[in-house]
Amino acid sequence: MRQVIDQLQESLIRVVANAALDRPDVLKFWFGESDEVTPAVIRQAASASLAAGETFYSHNLGLPALRAALADYSNGLRAPGAQALTADRIAVTAGGVNGLMISAQALIDAGDPVVVVTPVWPNLVAQPRVMGARVQTVSLRPKDGAWSLDMDELLDAMRPGTKALVVNSPNNPTGWTLRRDEQAQILEHARRMGSWIVADEVYERLFFQAPGSVAAPSFLDLANSEDRLVVVNSFSKSFLMTGWRLGWLTLPSRLTPAVGKLLEFNTSCSPVFVQRAGLAALSHAGNITPAVVQHLRQCRDTLVPLLQALPGIEVAPAPGGLYAFLRLPAHPDSLQLARRLVQEAGLGLAPGQAFHDSARPDMQGWLRWCFASADLQRLREGVGRLQRWMQL
Ligand SMILES: Cc1ncc(COP(=O)(O)O)c(C=O)c1O
Repeated sequence: MRQVIDQLQESLIRVVANAALDRPDVLKFWFGESDEVTPAVIRQAASASLAAGETFYSHNLGLPALRAALADYSNGLRAPGAQALTADRIAVTAGGVNGLMISAQALIDAGDPVVVVTPVWPNLVAQPRVMGARVQTVSLRPKDGAWSLDMDELLDAMRPGTKALVVNSPNNPTGWTLRRDEQAQILEHARRMGSWIVADEVYERLFFQAPGSVAAPSFLDLANSEDRLVVVNSFSKSFLMTGWRLGWLTLPSRLTPAVGKLLEFNTSCSPVFVQRAGLAALSHAGNITPAVVQHLRQCRDTLVPLLQALPGIEVAPAPGGLYAFLRLPAHPDSLQLARRLVQEAGLGLAPGQAFHDSARPDMQGWLRWCFASADLQRLREGVGRLQRWMQL
């Protein structure tokens, strides 16, 4: 086995969750998905495709109709003045995670320096490592539970020779979201350094900061078609489609043929019936996603004030995403804390150290709570369990 694979850290979210997956008495908020099933109109499109016998391979890059629909959908979300996307810049992938891996395969040679903004979903650090990258992390800073980026620190880390910056905004787990002016600075700097930006924007629609806005700021609002920019996106979160494994990449068109080759060697293509489901999702996006976002906002606004009312907890409302990232400073070892909460309180949360280097004192004692719950009462019950445990 390759040494880098041998040395990869297994997901600490899984370490906690796998031990109690089959325990019905545990309230589970550890994974990043809603407990609501995919809307019926999407499921029906997949059934109709199967009934029509669409059981064959498709083009590596996806059905032309889906690529065109994705370009239209993305253009509809862009800020005024953004360069319009064309379908030749879209590649359909088997979820965001496959898009991230293919981006890493396309861009990273062994030994390349790669900068990743953390805390972040563990895959974004692990995938460049699989390719042999030398990963340097730049950490967001917490203040009273809210997170910000020290732009000087990030730009200092991106030097000539830095192959890529990997950044996830809105961010899993903190909800931190890049501002447009920060994106402009990063893009300008990456152009000067000759670095790629891999922007994970799978939560772009789950943005609560500016009511009425349809999406968080995107690098696609600013970049041109020649920029070294790969944007990773997914149907999982905005359309409640985690189990379908459908996502897409937006690429400079010169990179599309290389990604087509890599798709062949990874999955060959996404299943046609799943792509048909994706087409249905896009044609009903105007109804589905605003309802998803409205409900998630309610979830966040139910959970976070209840947590804030507990003494000894730091947490701020996340501007975007699916998560409350909370801190119990009295319990610095977050892995032990998450395990104890499962055993002693029947509460399933993800340990903060799955998402960042926990050596720094201000990075200790964090937990991620996915608030995407169809039933708000589950969230209230979860807080009750935490409160009772803290009072023991
Ligand atoms: C930041 C981030 N990127 C990508 C993904 C991948 O999602 P999927 O592969 O389901 O599209 C996730 C899933 O939780 C995520 O949190």
